[in-house]
Order: sequence, then C-alpha cells, then structure tokens
Amino acid sequence: MKLYNQITPIFLRFFTFSLFLSLPLLLLFSLKTTNTATITTTPNPGIRIRPGYTTYDTYIKKQLNKTLNPKLRHLWTTRDWDRKIRVFSSFFSQLKNSSLLSNSSKALCIGARVGQEVEALRRVGVSDSIGIDLVPCPPLVIHGDFHKQPFKDESFDFEFSNVFDHALYPQKFVREIERTLKPGGVCVLHVAITTRSDKYSANDLLGVDALVKLFKRSDLVWVKKVDGFGLDTEVIFRKKKKKLID
Ligand SMILES: *[C@@H]1O[C@H](CO)[C@@H](O)[C@H](O)[C@H]1NC(C)=O
Ligand SMILES: *[C@@H]1O[C@H](CO)[C@@H](O)[C@H](O)[C@H]1NC(C)=O
Ligand SMILES: *[C@@H]1O[C@H](CO)[C@@H](O)[C@H](O)[C@H]1NC(C)=O
Repeated sequence: MKLYNQITPIFLRFFTFSLFLSLPLLLLFSLKTTNTATITTTPNPGIRIRPGYTTYDTYIKKQLNKTLNPKLRHLWTTRDWDRKIRVFSSFFSQLKNSSLLSNSSKALCIGARVGQEVEALRRVGVSDSIGIDLVPCPPLVIHGDFHKQPFKDESFDFEFSNVFDHALYPQKFVREIERTLKPGGVCVLHVAITTRSDKYSANDLLGVDALVKLFKRSDLVWVKKVDGFGLDTEVIFRKKKKKLID
C-alpha cells in the first residue's frame, strides 16, 4: 500500500511531464494538418483561388484526372507534338537571343505533361533540361509536385512554366522556384491575365502585380504579350544575386 502510494504520484508526474513535452509536437501536427487540409495562404487580392478544393488530395486527384486522360495524352504526343515544339522553340530561341538562356543553362520545365517544352529546349541546344509533373513521362519528364520540387536549393539556371494557374498554393509554387533557382537564375512564366477557361485551373490571376508580389527574392525582367496556347502574357524574373534574409 505504501509502495503503491509512492508509485502513483511518480507515474502521474511522469505522465503530466510527457504530455507537456509532446504539446509542441501536437501543436505542430495540428498546424501541418490545417496547412494541407484547407486553403489558407497570405491574402493576395490579385489571385483568386477557385473554390471546391476541400483537401490537398481532392486537388491532386482532379489534376491527375487531366494528366492521366488517355485521349489527351494521345493528342499531346501526336497532333500537338510538332506544333507545340515549334512554338516553344521559337520562345526559347528568343530568350537565347536576349541572353536569358544559353546552351549551358541547367533548365527545368514545371508541369511539363509529356515534355514538349523540354524537347524544344533540347532542340535549341539547351541539352541539360528536364521536366516535372505529377505523372512522369520518361525520358523528358520525371515525377515531381511543383508545390514541393524534388530538387536541392540552387539547382537551376532557368525555369519555365505555363501552369501557374494550376497551383493551389501560388505562394508555394513561387517559393519553390526561388528556392531551386541559382542566384541570377531566370524564371519565365506564361500566364493568362483574367480568366483561363480551363476547368482544371486552381487559381485565377487578375493582374501581373499579384505575381510580382509573390517573387520576393527576384527582380522583374519584363512583362510582354505572347500567344502561348491560350496564355497571353510572358512574365520573366531573375533571382537576385545577393541573398536576402526574409
Ligand atoms: C476523370 O473524371 C471523369 C469524370 O469525372 C471519369 O469518368 C474518368 O474516369 C476520370 N479519369 C481518370 C483518368 O481518373
Ligand atoms: C535569334 O537570333 C538568330 C540569329 O541572330 C535569328 O536567326 C533568329 O531569328 C532569332 N530568333 C528569334 C525568335 O528572334
Ligand atoms: C547551341 O546549340 C545549338 C544546337 O545544338 C548550336 O547550333 C549552337 O551553335 C550552340 N551555340 C553555342 C553558342 O554553342
């Protein structure tokens, strides 16, 4: 009885202590859950997140639905293949002429589907180029989520994407680009200002300013009209050479 009385307080104390220790972990876990389960980013009135994505899983499933569509994949690799490579090649050779891209650039295409833009980069002489998408398409495209790029910091000289509108977390999309670009690296985005009539879009960009606001570690190089498969605006950033503490 005496022993029992002694053990109980010790046990209780230990229990309370371990609960106290695990509180920060519990808090962290609940924050993490909130972060992926609901759509809450820093308010940016120039970017409207489309409703209907209750969890990250429903978002990914919807994106996969388009990427895996066999009819679309067939079109992308047949009817669209040469036409798109020709247009992308002309964009990229213009960027080479403006010294924003060179044969020795290490280049990434984000959300590259079957990899037409990667093929275009290689054809204009940028041999060290690769694409990422939720579904890999070897040898041009490997598996990767643009919200969490599978690359180390400062891996690329050049990144291109025309799927900004598919980002559920535009801030993360941009943060990952700025993380994986080398200082002085160039990011080229083709976007639609106003609404893109794609039911798979996750956000609508209402103006270029909203995009510029997201690129905290870069300078704006130019904004220019393009005709890029339903996307009307080319926005180019260069990551600052001097690292900022932000
Ligand atoms: C995509 O969704 C449609 C209808 O919502 C469904 O019929 C189709 O099987 C889905 N495709 C894939 C590849 O998940
Ligand atoms: C880039 O420069 C080359 C050589 O000066 C020229 O032939 C080509 O038309 C230019 N490409 C574009 C897209 O401006
Ligand atoms: C870049 O690569 C292209 C295609 O292979 C080649 O024609 C061109 O001469 C190269 N440019 C330089 C500066 O090496």
